[in-house]
Amino acid sequence: TIAVLDFGGQYNQLITRRIRDLGVYSELYPNTVSADELDALNLKGVIFSGGPGSAYIEGAPACDPAIYDLGVPILGICYGMQLLTHHFGGKVEAADHREYGKARLDVKETSGVFAGTPSEQSVWMSHGDLIFAPPEGFNTDATNPTTPVAAMSNRDRNIYGVQFHPEVRHTEYGNDILHNFIYDICQSKGEWTMENFIDLEVEKIRANVGDRRVLCALSGGVDSSVTAMLVHRAIGEQLTCMFIDHGLLRKDEGTRVMEMFEGKFDINVVKIDAAERFLTKLQGISDPEQKRKIIGNEFIYIFEEESSKLENMDFLAQGTLYTDVIESGTATAETIKSHHNVGGLPEDMKLDLIEPLNTLFKDEVRELGTELGLPESFVWRQPFPGPGLGIRVLGEITEDKLKIVRESDAVLHDVLEKAGLDKEIWQFFTALPDMRSVGVMGDNRTYDYTVGVRAVTSTDGMTSDWARIPHEVLETISTRIVNEVPHVNRVVYDITSKPPATIEWE
Ligand code: XMP
Repeated sequence: TIAVLDFGGQYNQLITRRIRDLGVYSELYPNTVSADELDALNLKGVIFSGGPGSAYIEGAPACDPAIYDLGVPILGICYGMQLLTHHFGGKVEAADHREYGKARLDVKETSGVFAGTPSEQSVWMSHGDLIFAPPEGFNTDATNPTTPVAAMSNRDRNIYGVQFHPEVRHTEYGNDILHNFIYDICQSKGEWTMENFIDLEVEKIRANVGDRRVLCALSGGVDSSVTAMLVHRAIGEQLTCMFIDHGLLRKDEGTRVMEMFEGKFDINVVKIDAAERFLTKLQGISDPEQKRKIIGNEFIYIFEEESSKLENMDFLAQGTLYTDVIESGTATAETIKSHHNVGGLPEDMKLDLIEPLNTLFKDEVRELGTELGLPESFVWRQPFPGPGLGIRVLGEITEDKLKIVRESDAVLHDVLEKAGLDKEIWQFFTALPDMRSVGVMGDNRTYDYTVGVRAVTSTDGMTSDWARIPHEVLETISTRIVNEVPHVNRVVYDITSKPPATIEWE
């Protein structure tokens, strides 16, 4: 294991992910983890992550000092490097100018983490503090005009630090630097694969569940389907899946999901029709966060009610991804929106959660699904948010508006499928803004709804760009939606990336 200590940066889980991609198991630990806990792992190295703190301020996040004596190599990234510097007596201070984004790096020491990389390279910086002098015994390995100590090392103690972020794609040789650290310096073997992940998670689930039973929240999407398969592999018949129709599903989705699962994988699935219950709860509510929370809570209440009817049912398995966790806000990361399965959970929840995917990104889950034997059509399904059409009808939800979104979405799917673009585009859907505008149809004035079309390219949902759909296809989408969906007289195409927008409109 390469343990990554979390000091609160936005990219921390990305560090572990890059390392796993390079074939070595890596996990994120809170910065308060003890040296003994780390020592109990098959520990090859430790990485201190970035974070928003200032190492020289009283009470700044630090780590168990015994970690420095574990005898494994340490790499400090950004704040992590400043922490090392502060600990070993170097000089860290606030910089005159914060440095953000792309920067040039002059590498003085092309060995260690920089082995095999050029003496001039482009890196990604994001910091407000600077190291003005490395601690005694440390060498300055790289620098640039604004950052006097951009990388340093103490070869005797096997401790390294970089001020930039090797884990982000914008750092040209980031992967090489991480590769050098985990293989050459930490001497990891590189035996990590998705198969190992399955074995490890299966073991964890078995140990946790024992002879009790697990309810799995199944939506038919990739994440919950993969979760169901994984938990099923671990505990077989002790698993029951529950598919809740909350009345906010896409056209024909309910039947599609049941057809996919019933009988196919020998997994027990129960369908609950709860449309009326959800819609009643949502009546008169227009705030997006409130809608998300109501839907998230209602899901759990139903799971709890149903599970209490089943003996020994103590756990709820959900397909929460790492992206859901980070965007819903953590102790250190800002809340962007409350994903129904994280920020939307009721405080008085009784079932214990099992979330085997919560360290993974979407593309890793797809790889896992394939490894578990799910068919392509499953694995490559588009993401569909748990709150469903509830967050695609902007503002207050009504049956009429749901119908417009459902029908226009079905038209959009049909057009893109016929144009052969449905597999290329990462996610596409329609949204209904809470507005009407004037139009003219068949010589008559209309005052009707506008449908927004959203189609994006992405790899993990964290960032995205709008899909360059050919104009002729956009034309067909617009014509068909206006002609086939009553009460729509205008269609707009969303041409914003994420950031600054998000993929969904609420
Ligand atoms: P945003 O809108 O945050 O969406 O850019 C990123 C990805 O996450 C999906 N999404 C959700 N998925 N529960 C989910 O399971 C949610 O509450 C939720 N909100 C957004 C969204 O469809 C996109 O793929």
